[in-house]
Amino acid sequence: VGTTRRRLLASAGLAAGGVVSGSLPAAAAARGGRLPFHGRCQGGITTPPQGHLRFTSFDVAGSRADLAGLLLAWSEAAARMCDGDPVGPVGGDPSTAPVDTGDAYGLPASRLTVTIGFGPSLFDGRFGLRAHRPAALADLPAFRGDRLDAARSGGDIGVQACADDPQVAFHAVRTLARIGRGVVTARWAQAGFDSAPDGRTGRNLMGFKDGTNNLDASDAVAMHRNVWVGDGDDPAWMRGGTYLVARRIRIRIERWDASDLDEQETDVGRRKVSGAPFGARSEFAPVVPEHEPRHSHIMLANPRKAASEAERILRRGYSFDDGLLPDGKIDAGLFFAAFQRDPRRQFVPIQRRLAAHDLLGEYLIHTGSALFAVPPGCRPGGYVGDTLL
Ligand code: HEM
Repeated sequence: VGTTRRRLLASAGLAAGGVVSGSLPAAAAARGGRLPFHGRCQGGITTPPQGHLRFTSFDVAGSRADLAGLLLAWSEAAARMCDGDPVGPVGGDPSTAPVDTGDAYGLPASRLTVTIGFGPSLFDGRFGLRAHRPAALADLPAFRGDRLDAARSGGDIGVQACADDPQVAFHAVRTLARIGRGVVTARWAQAGFDSAPDGRTGRNLMGFKDGTNNLDASDAVAMHRNVWVGDGDDPAWMRGGTYLVARRIRIRIERWDASDLDEQETDVGRRKVSGAPFGARSEFAPVVPEHEPRHSHIMLANPRKAASEAERILRRGYSFDDGLLPDGKIDAGLFFAAFQRDPRRQFVPIQRRLAAHDLLGEYLIHTGSALFAVPPGCRPGGYVGDTLL
């Protein structure tokens, strides 16, 4: 097993004696916020949202063995980083590039999670995986109003790193990219932030509380019903996994900021300051459909009809700020990310309604889109994707 592992690691371009070396310098003195990488399900899904996101989508070039070696090397490195450890020596040998880049050295683990998913293109035949493509990983249809940029969309493998420290999240994805050099090339990347007051709902860049009626990630029954691929679902390699839909949605900030409060609240279907639904005072008061503006965002997203409960998704998006567009407008918005058991029955019907009628739509531009099958977690010694490969 040892030599197989070393061969795979080497085929992934990882220096021998790096991740595979047993002894590491006494590092990461502060070990705050360690979340286990290993487990039945991957982290970063039901994990309470960390403050920072770094997402990178990669394309793979190589053989199936290269792919397996890559995922093993990534899983081992991710487990170390989630423990707050560097992936190898930061210093020592003046004649080689340090195995760990050092940018997170000495920082606490910061609740780092690394979540790995497989895009539809991974199943196109290059790796002999065509027969294993889940039916639920059907390409998303085009939606009305989409302005998708191919350079911000798709990818063979998506890696979501979340942490309470942006530098820890950056280090994690940068390190995986470095380990994968020669096998993967980065296709697009997105950084994001989520600023939520302790135990309360955070606000998005429109100034509204976002997440009020999200699925409760600590509700195991809801997670089994709407998020996790179940024991009876196919394909078997996805059981304990889920599907991620990511959309980079630019908000037309200047136009939104010029709209009056009455319009903003009608578009969302909630009050801005309190987050309460129409006809109520408190954020978590039940939504009364008769009191809601027709075509408000929340009523289109969840019409509260017989089929609506089964459509509900676990939203886990992050705001982004990418500076300015060439015309001087702010290039910021929401990197929408949602986990679900079957996008064909959850994200797609919701987004069809939103694209057709959502009052918020005037202020939103979908500029990127990606879909990933997120396999179950792995055991120590295994790797994310070992149920597939
Ligand atoms: C920049 C884009 C978006 C913004 C600013 C936004 C904002 C909001 C806000 C303020 C709420 C109300 C509070 C809450 O319950 O979380 C909400 C609810 C919701 N949104 Fe969005 N949203 C966006 C895009 C989307 C997209 C693309 C989808 C799915 C296709 C979606 C699905 C939902 C759902 C399912 C709810 C909960 C509705 C309910 O059950 O009451 N949103 N969103």
